[in-house]
Amino acid sequence: MSSSLLPLTSSFTNAHRPFKARTNQTQGFRVSCNSAPNGHNDNKLILPESQKLILPPNVDRRNLLVGLGGLYTAANLSSLPAAMAAPITAPDITSICKDASAGISNQAEAVRTRKCCPPALGKTIKDFVFPTDKTVRMRWPAHKGTKEQVDKYRAAIQAMRALPDDHPHSFASQAKIHCAYCNGGYTQVDSGTGFPNIDIQIHNSWLFFPFHRWYLYFYERILGKLINDPTFALPFWKWDEPAGMPIPDMFVPETVDGKPNPLYDVYRDADHINERIVDLDYDGKDKNVSDQTQKLCNLSTVYRDLVRNGGDTISFFGGKYVAGDSPVDNSDPSVGSVESGSHTAVHRWVGDKNQPNNEDMGNFYSAGYDPVFYIHHTNVDRMWKLWKDLGIAGHVEPTDSDWLNASYVFYDENEELVRVYNKDCVSLDKLKFNYIENSKEVFPWRKSRPEKRNPNSQVAPTTVVNTVEQTKFPVTLDKILKIRVKRPAVNRSEAEKAKANEVLLVKKIKYDSGKFVKFDVFVNDKLKDGVFTTPCDPEYAGGFAQIPHNDMKSMFMSSSARFGLTELLEDTNTDGEEYATVTLVPRTGTDDLTVGEIKIELVPVGA
Ligand code: C2O
Repeated sequence: MSSSLLPLTSSFTNAHRPFKARTNQTQGFRVSCNSAPNGHNDNKLILPESQKLILPPNVDRRNLLVGLGGLYTAANLSSLPAAMAAPITAPDITSICKDASAGISNQAEAVRTRKCCPPALGKTIKDFVFPTDKTVRMRWPAHKGTKEQVDKYRAAIQAMRALPDDHPHSFASQAKIHCAYCNGGYTQVDSGTGFPNIDIQIHNSWLFFPFHRWYLYFYERILGKLINDPTFALPFWKWDEPAGMPIPDMFVPETVDGKPNPLYDVYRDADHINERIVDLDYDGKDKNVSDQTQKLCNLSTVYRDLVRNGGDTISFFGGKYVAGDSPVDNSDPSVGSVESGSHTAVHRWVGDKNQPNNEDMGNFYSAGYDPVFYIHHTNVDRMWKLWKDLGIAGHVEPTDSDWLNASYVFYDENEELVRVYNKDCVSLDKLKFNYIENSKEVFPWRKSRPEKRNPNSQVAPTTVVNTVEQTKFPVTLDKILKIRVKRPAVNRSEAEKAKANEVLLVKKIKYDSGKFVKFDVFVNDKLKDGVFTTPCDPEYAGGFAQIPHNDMKSMFMSSSARFGLTELLEDTNTDGEEYATVTLVPRTGTDDLTVGEIKIELVPVGA
């Protein structure tokens, strides 16, 4: 109902403006290339470098907490001094693992198993070593695959499907990796001093990009090994280019040459196959727009995810998330721009809305059963690379030791258990894979900054809008919320803008994590009557969207979102105004969602 308040009568124009980086300055960023230090595989505390200056060697952090007179308990660890945090550390995934219960609201009818723990083969965890391959695996755009590429890919998935389920390389075992890491399979028992009652969650924080990069790294090498091809590379679903926006053809037919198509999955939205253009801003309802409009809107979404809302490390990667953090009790790390934007929309768009938990792609526990999941995520991973390659100041990976030293455990292509660290997945050169781009490619989304609003189409608001100070938080989003937010500065100079981005923070968002959730954020949408703002317009700041998933203890989870305002305010001719008028529009699943805080900050570039 609420969505009809802002219908898609598009005031969107096709004229797009060329992308211009605010500055060409590139920031040097280096990570240590050493493989992981020894001793990371036991339960000892891993101290980041900064901490070693403060704590004597071998101090047990648990004793230290006691020594502080119980002031710091697991429940309020987020108030610990930053230097005392510790990275999220996956336990031995084969021995410390529980059935997935989280985020599956309809457990009785779940179409996939919730038993997601990997097979235990009695292996001890080894440290990761970089591949010594001679060739770099070049991931290819799925819609442009040659017959040879597609045949090979099909053969590899077929070989994976032929393995017994309890083999670590089987189709089911690979799917279950996502289920276990995302739906409550592991706890933080080995993270820092150990938090056996807090689950590990690799979504909604700065773990999102690195975890999935590692997951795909092993998945690709396993597939290559199954068909004996050390050059095997995955395709990517290039939804950032108009020709690549439908689900790639090879996934669609049920059979190929009279045999089952290994890339087919029965649990997909039947309305969204066969050349339908993906909606990168999908909220659960199909928009009534032309393909051409949808394509242009999608390009604006990619632009927004990578440039406007990805202007600093945390806005792009997601917020800090360390040992002791629980999105249920004590922390609300922000969700990154791509994760909350195009990434979540595609999951929801592909998943079957007629299944009890939107299987497969529409729920984390089942997503890995659809081969499309992996090629969606190769493109998500590619977004990280493209974002970095823009060379904009601020587009750098986190340098915090709690990010660098966060680790996961996977079975590698040799069925060995290996522990991998975020710091070792930053360089694609070292991991020996990369992405094929068209030669001299100018990415279409780079020219898709929404067109500047014509001042004549704008009017002053006719109703009085309360300020943040006049509003009692938390606010429930059971209807549209309009609120005025004071800005830290107006009309900043180009030089000032190059130093810091103006960012809208929507914080302490508490939502039912068993539901698909989405609300949209518009800023200064002061259009004349009869003209409505759409997600393709400059007033659209972005959306907050969640795939169902939750912690074992509570239905409600807490998160936050960040939206870049610098360009938005320029493009809506409102950079001189003291307040920004922010409109939160409920789209789905928000009747019991509350927002605890809204503010605007200047975020230094590179912070
Ligand atoms: Cu782990 Cu697309 O999700």
